[in-house]
Amino acid sequence: MINKIDSLLAEINSLKANNSEELEALRIKYLSKKGEVSSLMNDFRNVAAEQKREIGQKLNILKTQAQDKINELKEKLDNRNASEEIIDLTRTSYPYRVGTRHPLSIVKKEISDIFARLGFSIAEGPEIEDDWHVFSSLNFAADHPARDMQDTFFVQHGADILLRTHTSSVQTRVMENTQPPIRIICPGRVYRNEAISYRAHCFFHQVEALYIDKNVSFADLKQVLLFFAKEMFGPETKIRLRPSFFPFTEPSAEMDISCNLCGGKGCPFCKYTGWVEILGCGMVDPNVLENCGIDPKVYSGYALGMGIERITNLKYQVKDLRLFSENDVRFLKQFESAT
Ligand code: DAH
Repeated sequence: MINKIDSLLAEINSLKANNSEELEALRIKYLSKKGEVSSLMNDFRNVAAEQKREIGQKLNILKTQAQDKINELKEKLDNRNASEEIIDLTRTSYPYRVGTRHPLSIVKKEISDIFARLGFSIAEGPEIEDDWHVFSSLNFAADHPARDMQDTFFVQHGADILLRTHTSSVQTRVMENTQPPIRIICPGRVYRNEAISYRAHCFFHQVEALYIDKNVSFADLKQVLLFFAKEMFGPETKIRLRPSFFPFTEPSAEMDISCNLCGGKGCPFCKYTGWVEILGCGMVDPNVLENCGIDPKVYSGYALGMGIERITNLKYQVKDLRLFSENDVRFLKQFESAT
């Protein structure tokens, strides 16, 4: 038995492995349950009592040396693999996956860019507003239904602190602090106390435009509206203005564009009228100018306001408003190629 152990020891000490498969084969041959070392261990039972001590010690040495040898071979292989790995420093890196812009951001940017080309700069204001900037300065009568709890989210009812219901509040803020000429657009989020459905949400986004100077007329407004519609929806787009009412403009109008789906022929989207409404506009009411410290005898101007969701729906036919705020990647990644 001692001879057997010695020869096995010599064998193990001279082991070599060229790859991990060979190494595994060696491990199985010597160290597995049915391997050579284990079978010697089994034979140990039959060893005479007076030899047990000596052979036991030898067997233990054999076992640890076998284990050490296998570990050593493994380490050698690992090091070799690491040092042989080829690193190509000239290789370009993997493409970096960038996220996609939100469709509302895409459209907001597009609207802002069109107005920027006409010399409008961007103005922003707070989303938590007061009654003066959202309603009173804009000529809303004290009993106007928009002031009602049904439509407006009040933060502090008694103190008239509320979430703005439109970005027209930014008009007031700019006019209070700036003398004309004023040429701004105000993109931003607005809030209304609506039941959430596919066509209404408790928050949405608007872009407001305001132009105040000497001798600004309705003709100037019309020209800007036509330019905007053609830039946004294509050169063949037609516009039409319908008389309307807003407390802060006089006269007021709503603008329709020729349906961009059917080209004005009539389809389910435009309810077979050939037209779809996209914004409200008008000449700034003299009371509003006066409320903001601008002399209506010297200056006049126009304002217009549109919903970004509405324009986005027209451009991309998004049928359910809720998709804009659900963060469903399957929806969002469809806008990958848009700028
Ligand atoms: N503030 C209006 C709204 O939220 C939109 C609007 C209409 C803005 C006419 C204007 C305007 O500046 O002239 O429905």
